[in-house]
Amino acid sequence: MNVLRSLKESFAQALDGLAADARASADLVKPAQDVRFGDYQANCAMPLGKQLRRNPRDVAADIVARLDLAAVTEPPEIAGPGFINLRLRGDWLASRLRLLAADERLGVEPTTSPRTFVVDFSSPNVAKPMHVGHIRSTIIGDSITRLLRFLGHRVVTDNHIGDWGTQFGMLIFGYKHLLDEQVFAARPVEELARLYRVVNWLGEAPAADELSARAADDLKLAKLAGRFADATELAKYVTEESRLETARLHTGDAANRALWQSFMPHCLADLDRVYDRLGIHFDHHFGESFYDPMLPAVVEDLLTKGIAEESDGAICVFLDAAREKPPCLIRKRDGAFLYATSDLATVKHRVEQFHPDAILYVVGQPQALHFQQFFEVARRWGYTNVEFSHVAFGTILGRDGKPFRTRAGGTVGLEPLLDEAVQRARRIVDENSSHLAESERQQVAEAVGLGAIKYADLSVNRASDYTFDWDRMMATQGNTATYLQYAYARIQSIFRKGDVDVAALRRDPPTVAIGEPAERALAVAITRLPETLEDAAAEYKPNVIAGYLYALAETFSSFYNTCLVLQADSATTRASRLVLCDLTARVLRQGLELLGIRTIDQM
Ligand code: ARG
Repeated sequence: MNVLRSLKESFAQALDGLAADARASADLVKPAQDVRFGDYQANCAMPLGKQLRRNPRDVAADIVARLDLAAVTEPPEIAGPGFINLRLRGDWLASRLRLLAADERLGVEPTTSPRTFVVDFSSPNVAKPMHVGHIRSTIIGDSITRLLRFLGHRVVTDNHIGDWGTQFGMLIFGYKHLLDEQVFAARPVEELARLYRVVNWLGEAPAADELSARAADDLKLAKLAGRFADATELAKYVTEESRLETARLHTGDAANRALWQSFMPHCLADLDRVYDRLGIHFDHHFGESFYDPMLPAVVEDLLTKGIAEESDGAICVFLDAAREKPPCLIRKRDGAFLYATSDLATVKHRVEQFHPDAILYVVGQPQALHFQQFFEVARRWGYTNVEFSHVAFGTILGRDGKPFRTRAGGTVGLEPLLDEAVQRARRIVDENSSHLAESERQQVAEAVGLGAIKYADLSVNRASDYTFDWDRMMATQGNTATYLQYAYARIQSIFRKGDVDVAALRRDPPTVAIGEPAERALAVAITRLPETLEDAAAEYKPNVIAGYLYALAETFSSFYNTCLVLQADSATTRASRLVLCDLTARVLRQGLELLGIRTIDQM
């Protein structure tokens, strides 16, 4: 049960006949900012007073008189200019918690209006190692998927990999000129990654001494370099030939197609290793190459329907009557198709295959214009019954406030970063968990290290940039995954110490009593899971969940500091408090799971 929503419904009924738009007025019921004023607050009497030219406090009194909430809240209080303060009744909370204890879903009912979502996320350009820039889309998209599924929606996940770009021309060039056959036979992924790096490096015209140093122990490189006067000439050649290799691939050259086909499984296996480690799975990998054959028809159709037109030899769609805004380009003068063309093809395919109500594109903020443009073209093309959403996110910054890079200024590889997280977590575990055996410590370190990275990303509003800071993300105090994981493990240790039969607490929950303010605060926090998840889903914002979990863990901590649990005065109080502990732990665990973060029983 979503308490906030049911309060809003009661208000909508009370406001019917009083307010012009009862639902909109009822929407002004919010969680209270300050517990001293209650748990929820309705701010609708003030605007309504203005509309009706009446004293808002009188309007508030009218609303209160019409409200039918006696079973749920204490008598509402009218405060200040006309705020209506609502406090949940202790006995209502107590019986609510008893129900929650027996409810696997912790009060979160599956939606009565399920929608179908396609979530396009991660979507790296393959054939180069994944770097830190890929992590936000991957983690945020996964969390949104988990959340929507938990709420009862149907979600199709699609990793729209960039598997058709210029990097393949570079790889083919590298393969033809610089391949180390032995390494390729033994460890193809490693060799492909090396080829990509070398070709990239050659294209940037390296310094002469660096080039000769490398050529000294690479015969093939020496032979290639020997054909050119200097690194600049060589760079020109490498760049031009790579471009031609890409073009040959695209126009169907058999040898290049065969090479591409032989590379792809290795590229995908390489990605999968990272996804497996992060606990992330996709339903589909319809990459750019998949859409390539469909692109001519997309352009033709848009031309036939008069949506696209020729301009200067290119084909484009003008988005404003005045033609002042940059048009959306769908075919270049040389016949090449663009990013927008293939994204238009994704829409057609997804609508035909999955009949989605919404398509979410979890992609960084810098691509905002691209999404605005092709969403508009898609709507003109007739896709008006689909919600298109660019779920945008900011950049990861280093501690210097600039985009996060290695000390040498290069991109930060994703796998080494994950390794470092686990190593650092291991040190924390060694300091705090001397009671654990070696193998357990390593498992905890995996969960803590990866959890820290994920949580640092998910706990900030995705629209903002965030600073990558090891010390902050791994702190055992404050808004971190580590803190939440410890809070969870601490509750499990209470159960172990008290030899508590937790399954029985859930099967046949004891009577819950809400006496102390700290118990009450914890009980209210626990009942807020459903409204939190709905808020998070409405804006596709996992940070709403993170903020809630942190507040819950802090509320638990005050409860545990003021209320005895195992040593409580009476068996009934003990049992009641154990229910509070168990519910807290389960909400933490469920919430972290929606963020893709594991909990461990013993840390
Ligand atoms: N591969 C693209 C990139 O790395 C992201 C693709 C996002 N998805 C999409 N349908 N455009 O920038």
